[in-house]
Amino acid sequence: MGPSRSEPSRFESAASISDVPVEDRYFLLIEAVRDYAIFMLDRSGHVSSWNPGAQRIKGYSSDEIIGRHFSVFYTPEDVAAGKPARELDIAAAEGRVEDEGWRVRRDGSRFWANVVISAVRDVSGVLLGFAKVTRDMTERMRLAELEHASEVSTQVQITRENEQKRIARELHDDLGQQLTALKMSVALLEANLGVQAVTTPLASQTRELQTQIDSMAASLRRIAADLRPPLLDDLGLMAALDWLAEDFTKRYGVVASVRLESDESGEPAFNDFASTTLFRIVQEALTNVARHANASHVRIDMACAEETFSLEIEDDGIGAVLEGPFGKNSFGLLGIRERVRQLHGGVTFFSAPGSGFRISIRMPVDALE
Ligand SMILES: Nc1ncnc2c1ncn2[C@@H]1O[C@H](COP(=O)(O)OP(=O)(O)OP(=O)(O)O)[C@@H](O)[C@H]1O
Ligand SMILES: [Mg+2]
Repeated sequence: MGPSRSEPSRFESAASISDVPVEDRYFLLIEAVRDYAIFMLDRSGHVSSWNPGAQRIKGYSSDEIIGRHFSVFYTPEDVAAGKPARELDIAAAEGRVEDEGWRVRRDGSRFWANVVISAVRDVSGVLLGFAKVTRDMTERMRLAELEHASEVSTQVQITRENEQKRIARELHDDLGQQLTALKMSVALLEANLGVQAVTTPLASQTRELQTQIDSMAASLRRIAADLRPPLLDDLGLMAALDWLAEDFTKRYGVVASVRLESDESGEPAFNDFASTTLFRIVQEALTNVARHANASHVRIDMACAEETFSLEIEDDGIGAVLEGPFGKNSFGLLGIRERVRQLHGGVTFFSAPGSGFRISIRMPVDALE
């Protein structure tokens, strides 16, 4: 008896469900369920009933499937491993078996199923067959996978950030100290040469050495600051952004300005993760301005209201067409989106050829402190 047994006439006289005979109510109940495949197997595992939920999830109509062995729902690997028969054996022995795994639809596609098989017995305990309830968990599993992937990506980012912090510190404290010591030794050497030696080749060589050491120290500071701006840890996000904007203006000749609008409470007490994340977002946006915008100004405006923190980065450059996905090697805007999501916020990109590029971000203040 499958769903094709549509016999509305049988229930025509019923004004309400309580007028329907009890045994027919069960039929109606199972026919009404769309989210679960509910069907019966005979003792040897052949399908003997089918509901609309089963048709929806597995793709077979009742005419196509009734009488066929239920191993068609399993993957070839599971069939080869004898899983269908084993599940029936367990259900027969223990009354019930539950399983989660891949199952196969009529069209060959796979879905992640939660399956419960229960033994059905007559009053004297003789096995008649099995009741099988299958639920499609694919969406739920995808969600769980996505959640897991985003947790992993957050963790990778934190680890990477910590590593950069460590290398920057090592560069500054260890190599930096050694360079300072070297510079002092050379200065001492110069002093020992005495005033009368200022014009000798030796004196000009020591001066050359000093210059080289200074330029090494400058490179080292730049590399360390690129890895992890020390201001971010010492003086907080605003100071670090001011430094970033100033450095950007110097490096690229594009005037960058930073503003924070907030009530009397001033700069929010950003936690470490939030300030690093916001800093990296602005850094990525500025990198894009330098690479793509051909702009003369870029403004970085933040506003902190009671519950919402907003960040806007806008340049007056050539803009871009935003429709469609960017090239497969474009990860900057994706990265910004991902970072914003990690702070439970939302981001919108606005642009058109000739009218600049604007990144608009909103996030709950709660997620930042
Ligand atoms: N400020 C901007 N002005 C103009 N176009 C921009 C700007 N920012 C981004 N774009 C456009 O958007 C595209 C995607 O930017 P995205 O940062 O994702 O990738 P990318 O900069 O090309 O590569 P990367 O992965 O190294 O960041 C860019 O290739 C560019 O065409
Ligand atoms: Mg980029």
